Amino acid sequence: MRRDAPYLNAQIESLIPVVVGLGTDIVEIARIAKMIERHAETFINRIYTPEEIKYCQKRKHCYEAFAGRWAAKEAIMKVLGTGFVKGIGWLDIEILNEKSGQPFVNIRGGAGEYAEKIGIDEFLITISHCKAYATATAIGIRNDI
Ligand SMILES: CC(C)(COP(=O)(O)OP(=O)(O)OC[C@H]1O[C@@H](n2cnc3c(N)ncnc32)[C@H](O)[C@@H]1OP(=O)(O)O)[C@@H](O)C(=O)NCCC(=O)NCCS
Repeated sequence: MRRDAPYLNAQIESLIPVVVGLGTDIVEIARIAKMIERHAETFINRIYTPEEIKYCQKRKHCYEAFAGRWAAKEAIMKVLGTGFVKGIGWLDIEILNEKSGQPFVNIRGGAGEYAEKIGIDEFLITISHCKAYATATAIGIRNDI
């Protein structure tokens, strides 16, 4: 083995992202649809950011998109391991989409501060829906160890 191998290994390891946490959620689309129909903007504005609302309302099946974002936010909460406790709110977690459709996460406020505290630099998220359910899985990663 080369004498500098341990040093090189340490250098390489420092470039490998580390999984800090994993979370998933599944939600009935009908449940979200019912809440939107019953509480309209009060519900929507409490859970979703303006950009998320714009995205969902443009979709042909908007309840699927709203439910997908609900599941995604819950999945991120599971990565954090806190639940929606005081100081961490639904609007702290924003799920937007690249031009390709791929979703990504913006995190801010209390949730952002907590993520930083536990060493998460970035979240990865994936969403899927069928007629009845929406599901999402999230991973929290640390880039600079
Ligand atoms: C990604 C893709 C395989 C989704 O598969 P699907 O079985 O039809 O739908 P699912 O319910 O499983 O998944 C839908 C979710 O996939 C995610 N998604 C969409 N495009 C994606 C992509 N390029 N990469 C990763 N995830 C993607 C989104 O989160 C979407 O939900 P949302 O719109 O509520 O955010 C399909 O949309 C696809 O092939 N897209 C190709 C790119 C494309 O058509 N782009 C046009 C976007 S305007």
